[in-house]
Amino acid sequence: MGNVLEVFDVSKSFGGIHALEGCSLQVEQGSITGLIGPNGSGKTTLFNAITGYERIDAGSIHLPGEIIVTKDRPIAPDKVFRTGLGRTFQLTRIFPRLSVIENMHVATQRKGLGSFFSRWSTGQEQRRAVELLHFVGLDDLQEHLAGELSYGQRKLLEFALILIADPKIILLDEPAGGVNPSMINHIGERIRVLNQEQGITFLIVEHNMEFVMGICDKITVFHRGTNIAEGSPGEVRNNPAVLEAYLGD
Ligand SMILES: Nc1ncnc2c1ncn2[C@@H]1O[C@H](COP(=O)(O)OP(=O)(O)O)[C@@H](O)[C@H]1O
Ligand SMILES: [Mg+2]
Repeated sequence: MGNVLEVFDVSKSFGGIHALEGCSLQVEQGSITGLIGPNGSGKTTLFNAITGYERIDAGSIHLPGEIIVTKDRPIAPDKVFRTGLGRTFQLTRIFPRLSVIENMHVATQRKGLGSFFSRWSTGQEQRRAVELLHFVGLDDLQEHLAGELSYGQRKLLEFALILIADPKIILLDEPAGGVNPSMINHIGERIRVLNQEQGITFLIVEHNMEFVMGICDKITVFHRGTNIAEGSPGEVRNNPAVLEAYLGD
């Protein structure tokens, strides 16, 4: 199978800080690919670049649908979203004063289907929203304010929100961060189900090594804005350059 996402030689600076320096990454269709590296190695910046939230200074990003993003051909986040690429954020972005189901309603509109009222009121989209809440395990909390959810539950809601758009590939930034162990297992298991049963590709940034090593087929390692190693979890774990990157920083 081919790659659903490719990054070639991408650089990005913030003033004098080289957040990304000639980094490359390939994500094979149908894979669960991990992106790891010490704090500040550029992982979130790369996610922002891929999803159109940051313009790149050099290199290219090949998105689904043969869309190529460069310095001179930037792309807006909504356009990236429409290529079938969904993401979550390191700090969750939901509307705390809306209920869980209302958050799903807002995301349904964002998908750009029909008018504000039509689809939702016919019940079709609403049924799908409830199905997705059931899938992530939040169906009992539909009427709760999103702001009252635990941190782990908010991550599950974010997960359900991106699933509304039927993404081909999902980028997760630290899905296990700050989440209790049983919730981490639940999230990991849901990712596997989506990958195996619906063929959704995942690119996951995560510091929890047990989680990453347990779930990913392939892992790319970042250090100081560039990729320094890649391979299976076993190969990466035994790579001296990787150990050095983590110990050195
Ligand atoms: N908007 C920004 N302005 C200035 N510096 C930034 C910005 N975003 C990230 N950086 C810097 O870029 C580097 C990479 O950060 P980041 O991509 O968040 O790393 P990671 O996600 O791997 O921890 C860090 O030195 C960080 O301080
Ligand atoms: Mg980060």
